[in-house]
Amino acid sequence: MVALRIDGYVIVSADGMLANADRVMPIELKFEGDKQFFTTALDRADLIVHGRHSYEDQPNSPRRKRIVLTRTIDAIAPDPANPKAVLWNPAGATFEAICDFVGVVSGTVAIIGGPDVFGMFMDRYDTFWLSQAPRVRLPGGEPCFPGVPQHSPQDILAAHGMRAGETQILDAADDVSVTPWRRVV
Ligand SMILES: NC(=O)c1ccc[n+]([C@@H]2O[C@H](COP(=O)([O-])OP(=O)(O)OC[C@H]3O[C@@H](n4cnc5c(N)ncnc54)[C@H](OP(=O)(O)O)[C@@H]3O)[C@@H](O)[C@H]2O)c1
Repeated sequence: MVALRIDGYVIVSADGMLANADRVMPIELKFEGDKQFFTTALDRADLIVHGRHSYEDQPNSPRRKRIVLTRTIDAIAPDPANPKAVLWNPAGATFEAICDFVGVVSGTVAIIGGPDVFGMFMDRYDTFWLSQAPRVRLPGGEPCFPGVPQHSPQDILAAHGMRAGETQILDAADDVSVTPWRRVV
């Protein structure tokens, strides 16, 4: 497992939401610069991990090896809908076991949501790439991590041993940026 690098990716509204009140990621949270950043990162990843509703749906998505979390199976099962995907219920198999099963024992794993999946890996990220859309608010929306909005996403990352690196602007017109939160402890 030490050979695996684990990176997280999310874009959040000013109020820390990753989706609207209907649990859908709205058009207001989609920006070309962030999309390019995310696409490039996923193209470089060896494995993608996400919950059943967080498929990224990009042109290269069908080529990507992925693990999809679901409670509809006991532990590990092939995904009948996607030959590049395996279904995983963490209640029945460890992360190490599922990585072995899919044959990824080194390289980079990209964790792409939703909130509970982000929460599961909070003590394991090497870097969490937090994209922010400060002009967007999604009242009553879906918080990006467990513990938001009582705490900010930044406070949660810091509480889990990560510190902010240099922020990079992704879409200047809308002040959209990404900040790498890197593990220090
Ligand atoms: N803004 C962003 O960057 C961003 C990032 C990610 C997602 N999103 C959006 O946010 C929304 C996320 O949807 P969501 O809250 O439904 O999250 P999700 O994690 O994508 O899907 C939830 C489902 O995943 C499975 N799951 C999650 N945690 C699990 C666990 N610990 N063990 C087993 N199965 C687990 C369950 O599937 P079963 O029901 O099959 O058991 C659960 O119903 C979507 O609209 C997505 O597009 C936005």
